[in-house]
Amino acid sequence: MSKEAILKIEDQELSFPIIEGTEQEKGIDLRTLRSKTGYITYDEGFGNTGSCQSEITFIDGEKGILRYRGYPIDELAEKSDFIECAYLIIYGELPDAEQRQAFSDRIGRNASIDERMHRIFEGYPRDANPMAILSAMMTSLGSYYPYLATNDRSTDLANFDEAAAFAISKVRTICAASYRVSKGLPIMYPKKDYDYCDNFLHMMFSNPYDEFPKGTLQGKALNLILLLHADHEQNCSTSTVRMVGSGGANLFASISAAIGALWGPLHGGANMAVIQMLEEIHASGDDGSKFIEQAKSGTSGKRLMGFGHRVYKNFDPRAKIIGQACDELLNELGIEDPCLDIARKLEEAARADDYFVSRNLYPNVDFYSGIIMRALSIPLNMFTVMFAIGRMPGWVANWKEVSSQAKGKISRPRQIYQGPTIRDYVPMDQR
Ligand code: SDX
Repeated sequence: MSKEAILKIEDQELSFPIIEGTEQEKGIDLRTLRSKTGYITYDEGFGNTGSCQSEITFIDGEKGILRYRGYPIDELAEKSDFIECAYLIIYGELPDAEQRQAFSDRIGRNASIDERMHRIFEGYPRDANPMAILSAMMTSLGSYYPYLATNDRSTDLANFDEAAAFAISKVRTICAASYRVSKGLPIMYPKKDYDYCDNFLHMMFSNPYDEFPKGTLQGKALNLILLLHADHEQNCSTSTVRMVGSGGANLFASISAAIGALWGPLHGGANMAVIQMLEEIHASGDDGSKFIEQAKSGTSGKRLMGFGHRVYKNFDPRAKIIGQACDELLNELGIEDPCLDIARKLEEAARADDYFVSRNLYPNVDFYSGIIMRALSIPLNMFTVMFAIGRMPGWVANWKEVSSQAKGKISRPRQIYQGPTIRDYVPMDQR
């Protein structure tokens, strides 16, 4: 196979090297295109553009493959857990017992937030969006723990292990605290003998006289949801971490920007939008068939939320796993959720409908995840912060990868300017 691409522009014929990944993905290295030709590439939405070479996560959208550092997601979902996968995604290898314990202890030790941060929650309106609070609080960590957010790249990398544990541990505490304050409940402190997921549920739902127990089915289901969200290659929010981190910004500031990116309904906001869609269908008495026609029309402004994906043109492997977990959890908890029945009907109808099949639209990670979160009593307005808690290891790993690059170039795309050409200033009395 040729190791170069030939590009003919005007009277020039130029060759550019081909880059091939370990999974045989191929890319044309165009880093010298502009200097050689004055031309740039144009690829709105970057669907055909590789922004980096990464060793963290591999996705094959055509085959529905997702692997964290080479390990298939279905195997990790069955045999691993969120904290072990977080270690794998960040450090590149599965931890041995000692490494796992040290990582878990570092996360446990850093579960609390500075007491002064508690007062900030009180300043928000009761109905403030938890993503707004999370983004602000995440970047504020740099103010309370400045030694972990110096914006000096070598210093921030030297303190990376501590900063990573802070981000993974405290995101959970911040989310739970914002929920508690929004309900007028006291902020609950983490418990030393609870694991990561049990501690989150404790901080969300315990009361001084009624502690949320550890080792529950809910904790197990939450562990699976977070593991399945832990990383996903160069999605919108992870690319944002790399963009912001490439400028030398500290981990907390880079993650704060990613939280803003995740908030969008086409990205992390979709899990909420799916439940809103299912509830709307349920309330209307429609069995889903009317909604599907609206989503197909292209004029209703409605989409089948939780369906479709920029990369997966086959089943999102995470959707399969979550779909199965839905049935198990709801059966074990004895929950009858009409939204699950409607979701199943929508999936069945869409997968037999040429509109969706011809566009390779299949359920994605968000289609069933909201149903599990409802079963865990997570409030709808917190679904996207749950996605942020899950994606934290991926954001942390990508910040480290971009920050550790030897040449550390700032990311700065070009553009094709389509605005007015040069013109003279017009005084006010002549406009
Ligand atoms: C996540 O990137 C990641 O990895 C993201 C993520 C992660 O883990 O980080 O996997 C998490 O964000 C999952 C996606 C969650 N979003 C949704 O479920 C929102 C609903 N889905 C869509 O809006 C859409 O499918 C996207 C945004 C996910 C992908 O959009 P694309 O690839 O840009 O596709 P497109 O918008 O260009 O659509 C192509 C065609 C269009 O129709 P035509 O113009 O060809 O007639 O498919 C149609 C679209 O109208 N289409 C849909 C549809 N998704 C696409 N029609 C109805 N319902 C849908 N859901």
